[in-house]
Amino acid sequence: MSLSREQMLVEMGITPIWVLREPEHSAPAVEVREAAVAEPQAHAPEQAPAVVPEPAPAATPAPAIAPRPMAPVDHLNWPELAKQVAECRACPLCEQRKQAVLGVGDLNPDWLFIGEGPGAEEDVKGEPFVGQAGKLLDAMLASLDIARGNRVYIANAVKCRPPGNRTPEAGEMAACWPYLERQIALLKPKIIVLLGKAAVHAVLHDDKSLASLRGKRYEYAGIPLVVSYHPAYLLRNLPDKAKAWEDLLFARRLLREAAAPELPF
Ligand code: URA
Repeated sequence: MSLSREQMLVEMGITPIWVLREPEHSAPAVEVREAAVAEPQAHAPEQAPAVVPEPAPAATPAPAIAPRPMAPVDHLNWPELAKQVAECRACPLCEQRKQAVLGVGDLNPDWLFIGEGPGAEEDVKGEPFVGQAGKLLDAMLASLDIARGNRVYIANAVKCRPPGNRTPEAGEMAACWPYLERQIALLKPKIIVLLGKAAVHAVLHDDKSLASLRGKRYEYAGIPLVVSYHPAYLLRNLPDKAKAWEDLLFARRLLREAAAPELPF
């Protein structure tokens, strides 16, 4: 009897099998604007007076919402931080968002997972990781006997959806960093897991490959930190799920060591 691909994956324990409806990280939408070039007039009327055309007004419409500098956030409590994030105009991502997505979960967590940025569904619902990648993240959490909202907080490197679900730019992550920094200071998690390259860039300022960064213990503000793959990547690369599982077990070991350093794990 021959098994279907799905049946084989189930047999191998590589489930759930999520199917992406659209790529999470499509190539940046590059808008090419051609400068309006006046056609030279081939047959100018004889004797026509020489007219010097007025320069055309610059074709750069003002953005709908002008970016403006961020007020300091390092003293804000949760409601104040949530309000400032909701009203943020510190980078151009504010122009196309439906809403800013601060984060979700236990405000006194053991675990802090940091992803990249909201996608289309997160932009609508106002909660991180509610799409297909989020379902995989929930399954990963369940395998650790934890769930969002219970000892876990989930945040992103940027709070507003990058258009077309592109990867956030370095400047956008830098503009949003004070919010994530404040979240970490308020949450005081016992372990931080960075999911994907954008989160690594935002927190560790490191752009090396994930393959070279994972499997090691890092620290942020004295908090142990590990690097793993982004769930959207895992949806497209099922074999690397096993490596992500190793990363979570490594993180859990660091968490337990931090909680009871004298016990062997
Ligand atoms: N991907 C992310 O990195 N974050 C989300 O919230 C959703 C998808």
